[in-house]
Amino acid sequence: MKTLVTGGAGYIGSHTAVELILEGHEVVIVDDLSNAKASVVDRIGQITGVTPELIVGDIRDRSFLDTVMGSTAFDAVMHFAALKAVGESVREPLKYWDVNVSGSLRLIEAMVDHGIERIVFSSSATVYGDPEVVPVSEDTPVRPPSNPYGWTKLVIEQMLTDTSVAHPSWAVALLRYFNPIGAHDSGLIGEDPNDEPNNLMPYIAQVASEKLPELSVFGDDYPTRDGTGIRDYIHVVDLAKGHTAALARLAEGPGRWVYNLGTGRGTTVLELIDAFEAASGVKVPYRIVGRRPGDVAELWADPSRAERELGWKATRDIEQMCVDTWRWQQHATGLEG
Ligand code: NAD
Ligand code: UD1
Repeated sequence: MKTLVTGGAGYIGSHTAVELILEGHEVVIVDDLSNAKASVVDRIGQITGVTPELIVGDIRDRSFLDTVMGSTAFDAVMHFAALKAVGESVREPLKYWDVNVSGSLRLIEAMVDHGIERIVFSSSATVYGDPEVVPVSEDTPVRPPSNPYGWTKLVIEQMLTDTSVAHPSWAVALLRYFNPIGAHDSGLIGEDPNDEPNNLMPYIAQVASEKLPELSVFGDDYPTRDGTGIRDYIHVVDLAKGHTAALARLAEGPGRWVYNLGTGRGTTVLELIDAFEAASGVKVPYRIVGRRPGDVAELWADPSRAERELGWKATRDIEQMCVDTWRWQQHATGLEG
């Protein structure tokens, strides 16, 4: 399928572009490079043997989207482009409503006008908030998010649901990611935060490589097995394969589907530190500090619907996630230099 990948130079988009190309899809990437480098596209080419076209531009720019969609008859859109820093979304909420919500609105409008009727959307497990029961299935009720970033994901899900009702020929997949970590095993692509990382795994990796002095563990008094937060970490390559499986489902016919993309296994902060130390052979100095506002004690997925309906299942374990993150962390500096 000819697939337009918004945000395809970013962390998850680039790994998904690789899997799409390896499965024989034709990929065109649209990215404004606000949080990515153009060289990522060449590295996708190194991995797959096919360098996708990169069109630099902003999804909020309707005339830009018209030019892109007018030049190629796309069969589907994979929509990754967004801002994703939770803390920043609290400080600058309107920026998030603009890029994430207005950007998605412009994109969906353009799809309607250009007759593109399939979309895979990057949602987040953050829509489940602080659930009463874990693991969460897709039938677990969504909760009012605790931050503007989470609200944008919930609102875009609704925008796409409404669109699929108004346009019954559309096929929509809302993919709720748990905690993507890891990197491609080539060491050529991975997560490359511009600023100090917000999320646990990139922080651990930067402490291990002595870019940062120590990790703060946010709370050891949660009602969990070691007192630290439990999350469902998923290897980004498994996540990417979930997207190609969802795209295959969309090709079967119209409808609107929601899938959890997680492993179904929870890992504590201290367990992840231990696993990373074992995989890298490097100590990760840490200090226990107070809880981070807005954090939940535990969140992990029931991913059985995706396995049943998409034939997709995460296969890479925490050790693999750590090994691949460490390889990428060691290569990343050289690649950017
Ligand atoms: P990322 O920042 O690496 O990728 C996003 C890409 O979108 C970047 O390449 C950026 O340059 C581009 N972009 C941003 N604004 C744009 C605009 N206006 N026009 C065109 N391109 C634009 O982030 P990621 O981790 O790859 O996340 C991809 C998607 O997955 C996002 O929608 C994010 O909210 C969602 N998500 C991520 C996580 C996670 O932990 N990484 C978890 C749940 C959901
Ligand atoms: C966070 C966001 C969530 C977003 C997701 C992916 C919050 C409240 N939630 O999820 O909306 O979808 O990232 O971008 O920001 N931790 C530490 N020290 C650190 C960093 C994290 O101890 O320096 C702990 C956290 O308390 C948590 C776990 O590590 O228990 C994972 O944190 P993180 O990687 O930020 O992901 P989430 O909080 O699950």
